[in-house]
Amino acid sequence: MWNLKRLAVLTSGGDAPGMNAAIRSVVRTALGQGIETIGVIGGYAGLAAGHYRPLDSWAVSGIIQRGGTMLHSARCPDFHLLETQHQAIRYLEEAGIEALIIIGGNGSQQGTLTLHRLGFPVMGIASTIDNDLAETETTIGVDTALNTAVHYIDQLKDTATSHHRAFIVEVMGRGSGYLAMTIAIATGAEVAVVPEHHIDPETIAQDVQAAYAHGKNHYIVVVAEGAALKARELMDYLVQHSSNVDARLSVLGHVQRGGSPTVRDRVLASEFGAAAVQSLLEGHRGVVIGLSKGNIIEIPLEAAIAPCEKVTPEMIALAGVLSR
Ligand code: F6P
Repeated sequence: MWNLKRLAVLTSGGDAPGMNAAIRSVVRTALGQGIETIGVIGGYAGLAAGHYRPLDSWAVSGIIQRGGTMLHSARCPDFHLLETQHQAIRYLEEAGIEALIIIGGNGSQQGTLTLHRLGFPVMGIASTIDNDLAETETTIGVDTALNTAVHYIDQLKDTATSHHRAFIVEVMGRGSGYLAMTIAIATGAEVAVVPEHHIDPETIAQDVQAAYAHGKNHYIVVVAEGAALKARELMDYLVQHSSNVDARLSVLGHVQRGGSPTVRDRVLASEFGAAAVQSLLEGHRGVVIGLSKGNIIEIPLEAAIAPCEKVTPEMIALAGVLSR
């Protein structure tokens, strides 16, 4: 067992509901092992500037139910500079910090890999609403983001039905269509437009006509922000080519990233946080804590940030069959 005395934790990239629960778990698991935790304020930008605050048990009290991240987050383009990376490590060493836990998604774990390659002991925790880390089934924040989007689309469906309208709903996910496809299945949307599966606007326009001819009184299209066919483009196409279809565009935007985490995200974050500290103590580093077949796993950083497709052919087929 590593006789670790002081570690640091930071949250990076887009915030995700459950990040606070993960911070709390890291701090309290570490305390239980006699380890002090330092919080890095403001993601990699804070790391490069040496912005820290000590975290004791009280500091993380009352945060498990809160969305966002108490440590704040930031995009830090400067972190690709070697000088900035060395400066960050210098600050960590000067503060007597022996290991760093980074809670974030794909872009954030690329930074973790950089620090690992420079020889600093690091550990990642998979957290992003995009679910775009490989080899883990899910990441902290996905479940809450899905539930939030489903809640709002259910509401859109009420008004869509009343007005006999089509709604084009853009959801987040960066380059991944996982959120969009899962949301489409969960809301009974007529179509999902995702980066992993091509569909042209003509096909959708014809399908809207056929659906209305069949007696449907709403038509919901869930569009992933990273899809080749953009929500706005599809909307314009429908307006131009289907004059009898009253269509509206709705961009859910950052509302999907906020809100109180679901039970699943709170528990997942608590488990991931504890596992990250435990792994460090066992001498492991350069891995990301994730989930496979219900078990907590360690994923080598290089594998975790590799391109991955979470939208399966089965999901695409299911969404297609159920929307008929
Ligand atoms: O990575 C999370 C995410 O919400 C993506 O889904 C989205 O593309 C991006 O962050 C938005 O970034 P920002 O908050 O910087 O606008």
